[in-house]
Amino acid sequence: MNVSVQSAASGRFATPLLAVPVFADAPGDEAVAGLDAGTAAQIAAARARGDFTAKENQTLLAYPAGGDSPVERVLLVGMGKRDDLTPERLRRAGGTAAKQAGKVRAERVAFVLPAGLLAAGKVDARQAAQALVEGVALGAYTFTEMKSRPENGDAPVALSDLAVLVEGDDSAAAVREGARVGEILARAELLARDLGNLPGNVATPTYLAQTAEKIAGAHGMKLTVLGRKELEAEGMGGLLAVAQGSEQEPKLIVLEHRHGGKGTKPLVIVGKGVTFDSGGISIKPAANMEEMKFDMSGAGATLAAMQAIGELGVKADVIGVVPTTENLLSGAAMKPGDVLRSHLGKTIEVVNTDAEGRLILADALSYVRRFDPAAVIDAATLTGACVIALGHQASAAMGNDEALIEEIRAAGDRVGQRIWPLPMYDEYREQIRSDYADIKNSGGRPAGTITAGWFLREFVSYPWVHLDVAGTAYGEGKLPYQTRGSTGVPTRLFVEWVLARAG
Ligand code: BES
Ligand code: MN
Ligand code: ZN
Repeated sequence: MNVSVQSAASGRFATPLLAVPVFADAPGDEAVAGLDAGTAAQIAAARARGDFTAKENQTLLAYPAGGDSPVERVLLVGMGKRDDLTPERLRRAGGTAAKQAGKVRAERVAFVLPAGLLAAGKVDARQAAQALVEGVALGAYTFTEMKSRPENGDAPVALSDLAVLVEGDDSAAAVREGARVGEILARAELLARDLGNLPGNVATPTYLAQTAEKIAGAHGMKLTVLGRKELEAEGMGGLLAVAQGSEQEPKLIVLEHRHGGKGTKPLVIVGKGVTFDSGGISIKPAANMEEMKFDMSGAGATLAAMQAIGELGVKADVIGVVPTTENLLSGAAMKPGDVLRSHLGKTIEVVNTDAEGRLILADALSYVRRFDPAAVIDAATLTGACVIALGHQASAAMGNDEALIEEIRAAGDRVGQRIWPLPMYDEYREQIRSDYADIKNSGGRPAGTITAGWFLREFVSYPWVHLDVAGTAYGEGKLPYQTRGSTGVPTRLFVEWVLARAG
């Protein structure tokens, strides 16, 4: 999507769809300023009759009459109360405009950022533009890569062009900078969505490694990919055990962005990359098992965040790590009761082969000790219990450093990707005590998300936060800037955290 920022009077900008944000509690005059008298009258009538009250994400479509209007359609987008404006509201408004553009088959959209909006809430011009551009770019996303023919015989209309209109030049520079960053972040998040939506027979561990290769090549990052042989030499018994039942070669992918200068400790991001999780011998029920292609969502967000960090040229040392494999069944597959030796040296009793994510993450978390990290965040679609606990509204956070958890929570709030902490009382750890090995890989059903977190914690020796994104990484596409399938969560959170750390 091509994004431009232009100083133009909204009524005079030639576009098939002009989106105008409107506050519920501000006089409507500003919204209609610059529009022709007929359209302004239509809008005024809709407001007077209470058909359009400008509550959040409410829309009104109006059609300028007369053949000479450069604006073909006007879309009012409700923003709620002026003082309640947040970047997330703008992101949703952008998504709403993109969805409407799709409905009327418009390839271009113009979105006005009026001066009154840029002074509202606690949002500055740069943040507003960034969130808006993210929302439009994300909302315009469709995943059609696997379809050979468009539906209904209609050729798909892709939104190719967004013009952000600002009044005057005061805020143009800030808006331009926000738009640039928003475009990079949205493109990264769409990479994460593509990786998630691609089926397991395409998005294999090898495919993820090839994706990492492209990112490394484009942004001068160091790339290390360990295959089966190297994983054996490295002693990655957890990752190898999960991969035992699969014909696909497992990989450990390590991308290093080194721009922090001498003596800085790196920030490390780790993402679970199970490209399909059948459960293994502890096989999952057939219903909805196809959703387990999304079990590499943490990996997708990690690669995507690294792409954005490379494009933004972030002045920090950031390392992205992805352990990736399938979890399948075969005569060679690991079995319940098997005991394996992890990379750290701890032995693990596998009581359930479906608790595979923690096995590959334990090895990755042990591997990253060599980088002497300042802090590590991992993201994983780790437990079904997390979906029961928090639903689809927040990712669960656990860790060994309260300040770091709070830092991640704040970063998530700033970018509209919420996390919520779960307690790690010592007593929960008892559930993963094993009679036959140092630890077992399942603590049963009670507090399943927390005992998974405790399992990971046993392999960590630095400030660390674990995000369980099982309920947030994919879904129905309820928000205006989402579509059914992969959400790209937590790509924005990762990048925001790194940017905040880099200062
Ligand atoms: N990938 C699943 C978790 C999952 C479930 C993600 C549903 C998204 C939606 C994970 O590997 C898994 O199977 N976890 C088990 C752990 C249990 C066996 C201790 C689970 O949650 O049932
Ligand atoms: Mn599983
Ligand atoms: Zn899994």
